[in-house]
Amino acid sequence: MMIDERGMDKMKKIMLVFGTRPEAIKMCPLIHELESRKRFETVVCVTGQHREMLHQVLGAFHVKADYDLEIMQDSQTLFDLTRRILDSVKTVLEKEHPWIVLVHGDTSTAFVTALACFYMKIPVGHVEAGLRTYDIYSPFPEEFNRQAVGIISRYHFAPTDFAKRCLLKEGKKEETIYVTGNTVIDALKTTVQKDFTHPELEWAKAGRMVLLTAHRRENIGEPMENIFRAVCRVAEEYPDIRVVYPVHKNPSVRRIAERYFGQAERIHMMEPLDVMEFHNFLNHCYLILTDSGGIQEEASALGKPALVMRNTTERPEGLMAGTLKLAGTEEEEIYQNVKLLLENGDEYQKMCFAKNPYGNGDASQKIADILESAIK
Ligand code: UD1
Ligand code: UDP
Repeated sequence: MMIDERGMDKMKKIMLVFGTRPEAIKMCPLIHELESRKRFETVVCVTGQHREMLHQVLGAFHVKADYDLEIMQDSQTLFDLTRRILDSVKTVLEKEHPWIVLVHGDTSTAFVTALACFYMKIPVGHVEAGLRTYDIYSPFPEEFNRQAVGIISRYHFAPTDFAKRCLLKEGKKEETIYVTGNTVIDALKTTVQKDFTHPELEWAKAGRMVLLTAHRRENIGEPMENIFRAVCRVAEEYPDIRVVYPVHKNPSVRRIAERYFGQAERIHMMEPLDVMEFHNFLNHCYLILTDSGGIQEEASALGKPALVMRNTTERPEGLMAGTLKLAGTEEEEIYQNVKLLLENGDEYQKMCFAKNPYGNGDASQKIADILESAIK
């Protein structure tokens, strides 16, 4: 194709950089949207902060990365991550000279990429901007990461009005903040299927299915042991409970999980589910127990009660809507919260009638429109 025919001279190069499973789930719909626009050339760079869990998502959404920096190491530390991402992303930025770089959320990939862009004076757009707990150690290191990305970003794509208000409170200029909804809703529109089946789901649906996930860095150790002890008690005391637990690939999480659940009959540990599978498991489960960020949004969107096994959340929308409840990381508190929902139908039903606070599934479209209108 001739350059002039495609208007290449007017095309702007947008580079998306991400590296973990949740970022990929929320960036893939945006990649598809940007690729469909004539004014943009889209370059996808994955840092490979995650490996198998990232590639599961890219496969599910049929996205091919232009660059894979393959930085993951077993049991990587924050120092490993920061150093390796900074060095490798610099090379790609120098080669591509993008018009803008889009990062997502609060991972080390997002923070370090934004930092590299700052050093090189490349504008940054922050997807899922403005989430805050204002406790720098909770979640760790994510609260720092997202605040730092916020300082650097020229465009803040906030998922909700609440997130916008946080950004305004911090002094960000109103004209740099756009409320778009969350791209996770765009993703959910393509993943949840009426006729989905899976052998584990069939097993679990014979009783009341509890879907468990746990991976937070600050929960590894005593808090995670407390969580798992509470889950064991629940499974022992309620014979109709069937726990499905797709275990995060982090070896530290796996060691603890194996110790608690290795012999448990009605707690099934599994490899991470692909996103299509996981969203459909969510859609069918009775109750979610999680310390994840993204799953809190999905639970709210699907109207599934979720106990969040953390002391803080940057997603108060779900708490206000009633779908989420903070259950902390103490065994007794978690156990009592689960018990209440298993025994008290009214309490359970109260958490089921939720409103989706994250938009209609057109967040990617809105972000692409905003970027298009920024082209001179
Ligand atoms: C990272 C993000 C966290 C996000 C989470 C989503 C940071 C600091 N943390 O945490 O914000 O909530 O991803 O899951 O950015 N591993 C594999 N294969 C994989 C993925 C991970 O083997 O596909 C193992 C590796 O040993 C790796 C370890 O898990 O070293 C931890 O991965 P890492 O990205 O450092 O931390 P997460 O806890 O996954
Ligand atoms: N998820 C998945 N497979 C699984 C568990 C989770 O695809 O086995 C998805 C889930 O739907 C959500 C995202 O992964 O979109 C959340 O990722 P995670 O909990 O690892 O990270 P966080 O959201 O806490 O950053």
